[in-house]
Amino acid sequence: MSVRLAFLTLLFVPIMAFAQNTITLPAPNLKIDVPLMKALTDRQSSREFSPKMLDWQIISDLFYSALGINRPDGRRTSPTAKNVQDITAYAILPEGSYRYEPAGHNLVKVSDKDLRGLVAGFQDFVTNAPLSIVFVGEDKYAGSLNAENMMHFDAGSASENALLYCAVAKLSCVPRITMDKQALSKELGLSKKQVPISNIVVGYPAGS
Ligand SMILES: Cc1cc2nc3c(=O)[nH]c(=O)nc-3n(C[C@H](O)[C@H](O)[C@H](O)COP(=O)(O)O)c2cc1C
Repeated sequence: MSVRLAFLTLLFVPIMAFAQNTITLPAPNLKIDVPLMKALTDRQSSREFSPKMLDWQIISDLFYSALGINRPDGRRTSPTAKNVQDITAYAILPEGSYRYEPAGHNLVKVSDKDLRGLVAGFQDFVTNAPLSIVFVGEDKYAGSLNAENMMHFDAGSASENALLYCAVAKLSCVPRITMDKQALSKELGLSKKQVPISNIVVGYPAGS
């Protein structure tokens, strides 16, 4: 699918289709109009979650906020140095894990396992939440002295966009670097050039 067609599809086809191993997310809700200053004022980390599964609309909005395509030329909601688009996001759900594909606004299954325990590391609260998003970087800055810095900066930008959406949608959410990076790399099928950088843990607030 061309990027231009993907962009138009994203805007005008609010459907969710299930193919064998692909979940086409509903179109992001572009009409949410909470003021930015309110979102900034409400943003905070929370580690208490309801185990209830998140609506697909919320999952769609989260991935759009982090890494969605927001222009016909394929550029994203979060910036990357030289627009190298070096960050990939993975949805870690109880029923399996998925790679987010911005061009189709799809989630593509990469594992049938519940990998939330690998995201948790020593922090058990993570497995109470229905979703973690793992941000994976790929060094596309070959030769640059600042390659690693830029990858981490880019992951931070994507993460903060999603955290602001969490504030707007009144979700519990925490950004983290703790996780079993080695085991996750294996289970997610990452290449040697890819490295898990950070994650956010998301759910409805406990008791909701
Ligand atoms: C780069 C980074 C890494 C973090 N790693 C973890 C983590 O591994 N586990 C955790 O519980 N919180 C983690 N946090 C969340 C911080 O503890 C939290 O943001 C901080 O206490 C400030 O609280 P606030 O987000 O409510 O402002 C991390 C935050 C950042 C920015």
